[in-house]
Amino acid sequence: MSIEVEHLTKTFHAPGGDVHALNDLNFNIKTGSFVSIIGKSGSGKSTLLSQLGALDNPSKGKIIVDGQDITKLSGHKQTVYRSKKIGFVFQQYNLIPNLTALQNVMLALEFGGVKGSERKPRALKLLASVGLDADQTRRRPSRLSGGQQQRVSIARALANQPAFILADEPTGNLDSDTGQAVFKLLHDLSRQHNTTIIVVTHDLDIAGRTDHTYQLKDGKLIDYKK
Ligand SMILES: Nc1ncnc2c1ncn2[C@@H]1O[C@H](COP(=O)(O)OP(=O)(O)OP(=O)(O)O)[C@@H](O)[C@H]1O
Ligand SMILES: [Mg+2]
Repeated sequence: MSIEVEHLTKTFHAPGGDVHALNDLNFNIKTGSFVSIIGKSGSGKSTLLSQLGALDNPSKGKIIVDGQDITKLSGHKQTVYRSKKIGFVFQQYNLIPNLTALQNVMLALEFGGVKGSERKPRALKLLASVGLDADQTRRRPSRLSGGQQQRVSIARALANQPAFILADEPTGNLDSDTGQAVFKLLHDLSRQHNTTIIVVTHDLDIAGRTDHTYQLKDGKLIDYKK
């Protein structure tokens, strides 16, 4: 999926005054690109991913995905866009606490319209691809480590072969070997399936190996010079 962002602005109205989280952003991302975004805490990285994923509407501007402005879609069409086109990896995992790892991934497959008999084998394969063993797939999130929960959330994001992956610090809680494995998984997706990927990271080593790195600073997006 290709993305064209024009004059994207997001202002939060907080009791202490307005917060200009995103201030007139303009950029394009080609289909199949693997892009990283870096920036200090509070610089607007998660806010930007929320707008791109239609989890929130901008104050101003356009987000044109494959020729269509997603900010203009009805609520229902935005839901379809999120569930069919996008794989989210959230900063706080957002797993369902009373479902096992396996059930969390199977639920995503159900939402994606995968038929019943195919869900379990596919979910197990996805969980194995991010390095969870059989015992771990049967545990609820509270009985997994932070890094293991993050890997479940990555498996869930990949479940419906999304055209567009938005990942907020996907390797932040992983040891360096697991982080490398997750990075490779994302990299292979962008190369083999032409998946467009935007990853927020603090890891400059990972950022340096993506196709392009942007930096968010004072509400503006600038090219990051390596
Ligand atoms: N709902 C909200 N209401 C008011 N201000 C908000 C809201 N959401 C975010 N902000 C503010 O917008 C700015 C950007 O927040 P955001 O969460 O996008 O930062 P971030 O770059 O993802 O930071 P981190 O690296 O800590 O995750 C911050 O100043 C934050 O306090
Ligand atoms: Mg954030």
